[in-house]
Amino acid sequence: MENLKSVQSLTKTLPVVPFSEEMAQELLAIYGSPVYVYQSQKIQDTIQQITNALIYPQTRLCFASVTNGNVALLQIFQQAGWGLHSNTPGDVYLGLKAGFNPKQIVYSGSNLSRAEMEQMLDWQVGNFNLDSLAQLELLGDVWQNCNSDFTPLLGLRLNLPEITGDSRIGVHPAEFPQAIALAQSAKLKLSGLHFYRGTGTNATTAFTQVIDPIIRTAQKLPDWEYLDFGGGFGYPYRMEGVAFDWVLFGNELNQKLSSLERQVNLIIEPGRAAIASAALLLAKVISVKWQEEKQIIGTDTSIANLAVLSVHGGYREIVSWQNSSDAKSHLTDVCGNTTYSRDYLGKNCQLPALQIGDIIGILDVGAYGYAMSSHFLHRPRPAEVLLTNHQHRLIRQREDYSALLQNQVWE
Ligand SMILES: Cc1ncc(COP(=O)(O)O)c(C=O)c1O
Repeated sequence: MENLKSVQSLTKTLPVVPFSEEMAQELLAIYGSPVYVYQSQKIQDTIQQITNALIYPQTRLCFASVTNGNVALLQIFQQAGWGLHSNTPGDVYLGLKAGFNPKQIVYSGSNLSRAEMEQMLDWQVGNFNLDSLAQLELLGDVWQNCNSDFTPLLGLRLNLPEITGDSRIGVHPAEFPQAIALAQSAKLKLSGLHFYRGTGTNATTAFTQVIDPIIRTAQKLPDWEYLDFGGGFGYPYRMEGVAFDWVLFGNELNQKLSSLERQVNLIIEPGRAAIASAALLLAKVISVKWQEEKQIIGTDTSIANLAVLSVHGGYREIVSWQNSSDAKSHLTDVCGNTTYSRDYLGKNCQLPALQIGDIIGILDVGAYGYAMSSHFLHRPRPAEVLLTNHQHRLIRQREDYSALLQNQVWE
């Protein structure tokens, strides 16, 4: 791939455009604007990087598809030998379509209804990390009534305020004896502990410092066999941002788990860290205006395609291909095609002077991008395209206006 530098700022590391302007134009011409473009090589590289860093021998990596449920992308993880992490039955449904064996699927979610629990057991999802005693009791009851010869692995999601903070998720260690009794009464055993740090944590020490107390807590489960150390690993969206140190994390986990007397299996379920870098959102400049020194760029996309920015805040690098004649960069707001007051894709960016029809790329939108997109503001959703060695293929069709009517009923 060509690595053409954008002229974002002269003082910091420059974000690079991942392919040529000709390719960007070709993609927009074929698939429409805006369009999410995924690069398979980036996914493969990230899979390798994470897999290689996690050196503890009994490690199972499961991609957290809450971040991205595109079946063609899930297949890349499946083919690389990863399992799948599901937050919901919908995650499982998509995972099964992608070819994951249900035994490779780990569920750690919240508040399944009885019907959903029946569906999950019917699919024979291999591993359940439960959020409450009530969910454990429900699973036990449904499992006993389903006459299945398959037995799921069971774990508890951990709520330990000194580590997990003020969280609604999980079971407190004081509840472990009751949980063990509930599992036993359903002729099941509790063999796992699941820890989730919270999404987007860049500091590696926020994970490494809690390995010991989590292991100590897990040892309170007499049948402890696996530790699910969750997801939540950060991604450096800013060029100068701190990257999560997978090697340090992998070494620390290996050292601590290898020195235990019992052999414990490890599950890691990265979402954002595994797929954030894989995609950019290509869009076109629709209008340009200046407010004093500031450039206000109107684009043909909106935060409905990148909801995470208005819901959770955050930052994405924005690149353009206009770098030759005007090397000067300007303070720029990149705005969506609505008047919603939070419809900013980038605030106070540094971009060259742009013209109507120019192309921009919003980087690192692979995680919580399309997955959080919606029909809010009533525009059809864009296509998704996978780029492999300069070859592109459609992996989700662009919607037309009929998508806005789907499932509506009127007279
Ligand atoms: C239990 C669990 N595991 C993994 C993830 C993925 O998190 P991240 O994308 O921060 O790695 C989530 C996200 O909600 C989650 O709830």
